[in-house]
Amino acid sequence: MKIIVCGFGYVGATVAACLLREGHTIVGVDISPDKAAAISAGRSPIHEPGVNGFLRAGHADGRLLGSTEIGDHVLDADMALICVGTPSKPNGSLDLSYVVKIARQMGEAVRRRDPAKPPLLLVFRSTMLPGSMDKVVLPNLLETAGEAPGGRYEVAYNPEFLREGTAIADYFAPPKTVIGEREPGTSKKLLGICDGLDAPIFEVPFAVAEMVKYADNSFHALKVAYANEVGRLALSLDIPPQRVMEIFLADTKLNISSYYLRPGTPFGGSCLPKDVRALAACMREQGVSAPVMENILASNASHKQFLVQEIGRRLPVGGRVLLLGLTFKSDTDDLRESPLLDLAEQLIGKGYRLSIYDPDLKTDELVGANQRYVQEHLPHLSSILVQDVAGAAAEADLVVVGKAMPGVVDRLGGSVKLFPIHRL
Ligand SMILES: NC(=O)c1ccc[n+]([C@@H]2O[C@H](COP(=O)([O-])OP(=O)(O)OC[C@H]3O[C@@H](n4cnc5c(N)ncnc54)[C@H](O)[C@@H]3O)[C@@H](O)[C@H]2O)c1
Repeated sequence: MKIIVCGFGYVGATVAACLLREGHTIVGVDISPDKAAAISAGRSPIHEPGVNGFLRAGHADGRLLGSTEIGDHVLDADMALICVGTPSKPNGSLDLSYVVKIARQMGEAVRRRDPAKPPLLLVFRSTMLPGSMDKVVLPNLLETAGEAPGGRYEVAYNPEFLREGTAIADYFAPPKTVIGEREPGTSKKLLGICDGLDAPIFEVPFAVAEMVKYADNSFHALKVAYANEVGRLALSLDIPPQRVMEIFLADTKLNISSYYLRPGTPFGGSCLPKDVRALAACMREQGVSAPVMENILASNASHKQFLVQEIGRRLPVGGRVLLLGLTFKSDTDDLRESPLLDLAEQLIGKGYRLSIYDPDLKTDELVGANQRYVQEHLPHLSSILVQDVAGAAAEADLVVVGKAMPGVVDRLGGSVKLFPIHRL
């Protein structure tokens, strides 16, 4: 294929190099005359192991051209990969001006394309916040091209997951390929350029693809910050940080796994809140700055408020709510710091008429801390606890599913209005 790569920075140069390696012809377009000159000479404008060699070989074959403009290449290209920068503005927000500019240039350019030819597939690879494709890129394309996608051009969003330093290896062995599409199938899997890559392909709406990239990068950043906080505390206590994390990493069941990574109910119970609190206090005592640890509980509290607000959006105060679950998770009667108990207390406080169903809970068997918790937070629990879940659901205006209860939700009638907070 003939592929235009717009923006010949770290992403553009690496992708171009790999596509040259695969036998495609590349037109490297960059507004920087120095970069365009480097491409025209078969040199990489950036340093990334392996890129220069692939560019040089492609250039020697006559399959690499460089330019500062898209020019007539738009007429016979099969695809254009948009890899321009999306830097931060001084206030931290995302600067989409380069994306807007290239989208408008592309829109203008495709007007000259023969409508009988297959559409030029415009694949945006720059990192952009959710909504950017729908609210910024598409309107600019539409306005400048004078027609909707599907005719002279088509659009896709394909975030890049490569890491500088190992970018070539990452390109050929990505963790995954994510393709944002206007409608299912419109990218035709990016005309085959991901064929042969050994990775799962996810074809999703634009906003999902855009969001995944940010979920990934913020998680990577969080992991580094978290590990460094553990390391700082360990050092302050004369404990070897690497040994601690070696053992932490060896746990692939709960630590390095998909556990605890589904948006849903806030955490609670007798251990996590207490231990996070103690650790943050210990770090304060040690004089170790730990903004991540310090803010875990605050984040959890925000999530509880969010759930109350979401219930408010679904049902006005005074409505009848059936809460499924009160203990902090399934198959335990532990109520200590249960987020569902907090939620129940807040809903009652706001004026909802609440009933609760929880097969894990027997009020007459409550002892010790569980009993104290109930007395302090929900003294009238036994009067709002129901046994007939189907009957209570039929009378409720909203059923809030607080924790997994296999088989229970299926037994409720189809007319029941559900809000599953355990899986948002
Ligand atoms: N660097 C990485 O490892 C990496 C990894 C994944 C995703 N990303 C994302 O990919 C995008 C590109 O990142 P990068 O590091 O390659 O950026 P970069 O700044 O190195 O390169 C961007 C290039 O685009 C050029 N450019 C700007 N406007 C142009 C236009 N209208 N026409 C042609 N060229 C134009 C610039 O001159 C520059 O050379 C960003 O959104 C970034 O967040 C980067």
